[in-house]
Amino acid sequence: MQTHAGTAEATRGQRAAIDPLKKARLIDGFWQQRVIAEMNDYQFKVARLEGEFLWHAHADTDETFIVLEGELRIDFRDGEMVLRAGEMGIVPKGVEHKPHAAREVKIMLIEPRGVVNTGDSRNERTVPNDLWI
Ligand code: NI
Repeated sequence: MQTHAGTAEATRGQRAAIDPLKKARLIDGFWQQRVIAEMNDYQFKVARLEGEFLWHAHADTDETFIVLEGELRIDFRDGEMVLRAGEMGIVPKGVEHKPHAAREVKIMLIEPRGVVNTGDSRNERTVPNDLWI
């Protein structure tokens, strides 16, 4: 079995069922993205969120959010989108957004490989890419 990012839980390249919520529960801190699968150039990532993120935009790609547990609010400059467990939403490319979780929420993100979590800016909330769990 191949392992990645120091975890034996990685299922990269395996023909095996993947449980995104279970994977999300393995993550230590908030706002840390972990890859759980890849399809062509796209990655499926999970994260635990709590509190508020920063305003950012992704110039080159849309971003898909799927809520696994909890409730996520995504603020836009002209409104908001609330996603509950089992719901998904897409933030169009170039649109400024700020995720907000009043209580812990677990999500799955689908986006092309290499997308930076803080979008077009690098700052203290930027986390490394390509860490598998
Ligand atoms: Ni984003």
